[in-house]
Amino acid sequence: MSSVERVSTGIGGLDQMLGGGVFRGSVTLIKGAPGTGKTGFGLHFIAEGARVHEEPGIVVTFEQFPHKMIRDARSIGIDLSDLEKKGLVKLVFTSPEVFYREAQRAGGILDALVHETGARRILVDSISHLERVTRDPIALREISYAFINSLLRHDLTAFVTQEDVEITGEVSAAQHGISYLVDTVILLRYVELDSSIRRALLVLKQRASQHDRSIREYVITGEGIRVGEPFADREGILSGTPSKRGLEAFMEVFGKKPRTGE
Ligand SMILES: Nc1ncnc2c1ncn2[C@@H]1O[C@H](COP(=O)(O)OP(=O)(O)OP(=O)(O)O)[C@@H](O)[C@H]1O
Ligand SMILES: [Mg+2]
Repeated sequence: MSSVERVSTGIGGLDQMLGGGVFRGSVTLIKGAPGTGKTGFGLHFIAEGARVHEEPGIVVTFEQFPHKMIRDARSIGIDLSDLEKKGLVKLVFTSPEVFYREAQRAGGILDALVHETGARRILVDSISHLERVTRDPIALREISYAFINSLLRHDLTAFVTQEDVEITGEVSAAQHGISYLVDTVILLRYVELDSSIRRALLVLKQRASQHDRSIREYVITGEGIRVGEPFADREGILSGTPSKRGLEAFMEVFGKKPRTGE
């Protein structure tokens, strides 16, 4: 059950969009195409808890070996192995089948992990792998629902990532129905502008709360992810190929190119 208390995501600009952060005890879905930064957003959320709020975190990954996760985190300024050494982060590399089963079971792996670490936050990267458990869309929805609920049993605040099949294009809130099961949905998109690929973010929904509905550019740097100013042409940006008007509006707002490695 989510509370009214806000939890910082650790991402400059995103907390403001969310009205101060996500609700404690809520589930946030980060959805985007490969390479948009889904894992990075999740790692920021975990690192913020561990480094700033004395809230240990669990990182469950079905797709990356821990050493790859540690390397990727380092590239955005997060020292996961240090946090792990200090007992503030626990990296768990497992299969979706095993984790799903264990998350349901009282006294299972998830219970043991929470007990061992005192975790308040959890990242599951990515929930798309639950598709390996079943191909039936109705069963998948039930499994997703049970899975998400099991994350909340311990009053954890959760981030889950999901692969978007399309690189750019129409937004589908209904994909596998997971969006309906979570409290907050954040969409990450590639936008092609002036022959270069930029990144855009939209808070698609936030349950029981007002949120900023603008589409904003975000940048990934060696110091982390930072959310910038709104794009002006919402329709054009979501299509992935903004119109002339959108392009002009965009260039007005983002006339200066973000410096890489900033
Ligand atoms: N220091 C950095 N400066 C600029 N960009 C970076 C930096 N470190 C990582 N990136 C970019 O971040 C992106 C990868 O982010 P991340 O792994 O979080 O994405 P993802 O959505 O989880 O990808 P996947 O779908 O492959 O899991 C890549 O596009 C990479 O170029
Ligand atoms: Mg990833």
